[in-house]
Amino acid sequence: MTKGHDDSDATLTEQVVASFARTPDARLRTLMQSLVRHIHAFVRETEPTEAEWMSAIRFLTQTGKMCDDVVRQEFILLSDTLGVSMLVDAINHRVATGATDTTVFGPFYIEGMPERAYGENMAFTDGSPAVVHGHVRSTDGIPIPNAVLDVWQTAQNGMYSGQDTAQPLGNLRGRYRTDAEGRYAIVTILPVSYPIPTDGPVGKMLDATGRHPWRPAHLHFMIDAPGHRTLVTHVFDENDQYLGSDAVFGVKPSLMVRYRERPAGDECARRFNMSGPYREAQYDFVLDRS
Ligand code: BEZ
Ligand code: FE
Repeated sequence: MTKGHDDSDATLTEQVVASFARTPDARLRTLMQSLVRHIHAFVRETEPTEAEWMSAIRFLTQTGKMCDDVVRQEFILLSDTLGVSMLVDAINHRVATGATDTTVFGPFYIEGMPERAYGENMAFTDGSPAVVHGHVRSTDGIPIPNAVLDVWQTAQNGMYSGQDTAQPLGNLRGRYRTDAEGRYAIVTILPVSYPIPTDGPVGKMLDATGRHPWRPAHLHFMIDAPGHRTLVTHVFDENDQYLGSDAVFGVKPSLMVRYRERPAGDECARRFNMSGPYREAQYDFVLDRS
């Protein structure tokens, strides 16, 4: 008689599920029992060898080792590249309320970046000058004064300050506020497409599976306003070649914007002190009331 008969596999699964039956917290009980059922089903379906299972464990161990408290979070990268981050996002924003669509947070946010004035330049490295401006409103259309827009983007070399220690830490980062009419304005450089970090286990996984690591050019926003739900999103350049194949599946059509070419000295250039030709993107955000 062969070992590992199907019935005894199923009995094992039910035994492990039952071991969590007295978990006092009902939600934790549901999560643990469901996790066991799904992992067992995965193992039953794929029948890994012991060597394969050890390499899965090594992969997860390496993923944990590539995490720190500031700029590297390989587990977020793993969740993002497997589409889990966007699935969690979708589940938590199921109801269309008229608020701006959300997308992945990503691993490169840094708290406590400089407060910046309306129209202040946050770029201290080279690039094509650009101004991004618009309104922040509630879903009922009322402009929100004093909303805080925490923004971050990569430099032209495709790296974020903090990740790239050659850049000053506040480069291409800042906290802007809306004025009394709910308007914001950011002077910056045109964002570029960039590869997510490939020097860790996630990079190896992408390589081994024939996937590219590129993200389309975008500017990150986390917007907070009293009485409103925090909005975490990006604004993407609508001309980017990777919009259809984002390595982390974060693109939504409503989050694309055109960076229009503008001549030196026009009305908008004077308003934002832009010297020479520049690009202008206009994007309005809508927040849910909390
Ligand atoms: C980002 O856009 O910063 C990002 C998002 C997910 C994974 C890696 C980077
Ligand atoms: Fe990014």
